[in-house]
Amino acid sequence: MGEQTDFSTGVSGEVRQSVLVVTIDNPPVNAASADVRGGLAKALAHAEEAIDIRGVVLTGAAKTFIGGADIREFGQAPVEPTLPTVIEALEALSKPVVAAINGSALGGGLEVALACHHRIASPLAQMGLPEVKLGIVPGAGGTQRLPRLIGIPAALDLIASGRSVKAHEALSLGIVDDVVDTDLTKAAVAVTLELAGSPLRRTSQLPVSPADPADVEKLSAKILAKARGQRPPAEAIRLVTSVARPFAEGLADERATFLALRDGQEAAALRHVFFAEREAAKVPGFEGVEPRPVKVIGICGLGLMGSGIAVAALGAGYTVIGLDQTEEAAETGRQRIIGLLERAKASGRIDEAGFAEQVARLSITAADQDLAPCDLVIEAVFDDLAVKTDLFRRLDRVVRPDAVLATNTSYLNPDEIAAATAHPGRVLGLHFFSPAHVMRLLEVVRCGRTAPNVLATGLAVAKKLRKLPVVTGVTEGFIGNRIFSAYRREAEFLLEDGALPHEIDAALEGYGFPMGLFAVYDMAGLEIAWARRKRFAASRDRKERYVEIADRLCEAGRLGQKAGRGWYAYPDGKRTIDPEVTAIIEACRAAKSITSRQFSSEEIISRLLSAMASEGEVLLAEGIAARTGDIDLVMINGYGFPAHKGGPMFAKAQTPR
Ligand code: 3HC
Repeated sequence: MGEQTDFSTGVSGEVRQSVLVVTIDNPPVNAASADVRGGLAKALAHAEEAIDIRGVVLTGAAKTFIGGADIREFGQAPVEPTLPTVIEALEALSKPVVAAINGSALGGGLEVALACHHRIASPLAQMGLPEVKLGIVPGAGGTQRLPRLIGIPAALDLIASGRSVKAHEALSLGIVDDVVDTDLTKAAVAVTLELAGSPLRRTSQLPVSPADPADVEKLSAKILAKARGQRPPAEAIRLVTSVARPFAEGLADERATFLALRDGQEAAALRHVFFAEREAAKVPGFEGVEPRPVKVIGICGLGLMGSGIAVAALGAGYTVIGLDQTEEAAETGRQRIIGLLERAKASGRIDEAGFAEQVARLSITAADQDLAPCDLVIEAVFDDLAVKTDLFRRLDRVVRPDAVLATNTSYLNPDEIAAATAHPGRVLGLHFFSPAHVMRLLEVVRCGRTAPNVLATGLAVAKKLRKLPVVTGVTEGFIGNRIFSAYRREAEFLLEDGALPHEIDAALEGYGFPMGLFAVYDMAGLEIAWARRKRFAASRDRKERYVEIADRLCEAGRLGQKAGRGWYAYPDGKRTIDPEVTAIIEACRAAKSITSRQFSSEEIISRLLSAMASEGEVLLAEGIAARTGDIDLVMINGYGFPAHKGGPMFAKAQTPR
């Protein structure tokens, strides 16, 4: 082994058997920041000039090859050399450059690898071009080199979805030339020496395999339908499908498209979301707090919510003990959980062995004392204070004093539930969203007396469950339902002021929500909210504006889609505007002598956004939410707010006053 040369702070080289092994070490993810690009350029120039060097191996330190361009540099003044310049020099080198992909090679990281003359990967490597998830397209040759290696349809699929693949799939697609489970660098040096002196395989010079236009058309249509008007996937299709033109022309087009998207609003919004997600699990003042170990999770109440939580927990490798009131109810719960696992098997998400292994980790019971081995118990029983406090008192008697107790309540005060126990410090809220095995958001409720390591346990379990945890303080409805209530209230004010349900829904869908608010109400059914309004009718502040339209609808038997009518009519199951609803709305307006007026989509969105953002400001002032980004994440992941708009707080801050 030779001496180490530092080409920059994060790029070093070492000569092994006349091959320059270049290692990128730029924690945490070896991003291709200015220092790394500069170091790579120097290393390549050195390799070209040094007569005793026969080739280059490129690899990364720790778990990553290169995690992509440095996203933190986006929006700052450009620093030379750019990534395309480095990549061009790399591909043009007269000596072989072999990528030894040791871990994640993403975005610009994969683009570096694609320009190498040969790629080998460790079985742990994963690779992809996730740029569309950041509102951009690859900007350093990805759209032009990947199709030359794996064909247009496969490249389209990867680039437009942003999904990453593991080493073996990458091998079968043709992204890498080999997967090596022995010493990767050693193998890469050996390949480099084999390639030295022979003509090099430069990806930009490879012919593009012809693809069936009908297949490409079908795939593109599918991608566009999913993209719902977002630009990056459409641009990715355009760039990939025009790959047969001269390489330099495609590259220039790609770079211009990348730069324009990168400097746009949607990319800024998605970067905000990216960093907010990484920030969310960090609780100020709690750095270094060790979570309690959790292996066995008890779940009380095996209804829809409890079963979903059980499936998520089994999928994450936990042992699960499900409790319900009677043996029959517990057995019904078990069947429901197995049904969900069977669906996962049918869709290929788990295989037969995985299914059997998960079922083996599940047991059910109707006896409290069977929860004794649990490290964490999550209750998902009926949302009633008496029911929950009774359960927590019983749990207190059967589980170890250091086991964590979590309530999944949506609206009750978890401090009151904690107060019913002998060790309130071990109680927190884990507010899942339905279906709990699918929805990513998890509100982690920090109760008044929750111990720091109990909160840390909630966050650690959330991460293992592959959820996105957001910490919230105690307030009715926590972050999500508080903002949602403000949003709903404003939508009803809009109705009274002159907008119709379908106009509000169209504005929301045009903005990027998957479904309008009133269509969602109809799907969920209107009766639960109606019952709640009736319960609180007597205590309502009479001075507050109250919109009666929803009550009138319910009184008329319009309880939603299941009833065949709600905010819309459903002849033959198809959602249609109903003049009867318009008449009810007009009657309510007339009863309050409101002169209605027309609202543009922009006005509708602006009012709804203002209502959400104002409520968000209140939550921040009350200390319920720690950061604006947390509020944005909750609305994006729990309530359908479009991610490419960055969430209500971000979007509101962008709109001119
Ligand atoms: N640039 C700058 N910082 C990055 C980064 C990037 N590309 N990727 C991750 N980070 C930071 C995170 O913000 C986080 O910072 P923090 O510690 O201060 O919170 C830290 O690295 C660790 O990130 P994760 O918590 O996500 O770490 P994981 O180990 O869970 O995951 C990863 C690692 C798979 C690399 C994941 O971070 C990831 O997916 N990163 C984004 C990859 C990506 O999108 N790359 C494309 C960038 S755009 C591009 O390359 C354009 C090109 O075409 C020109």
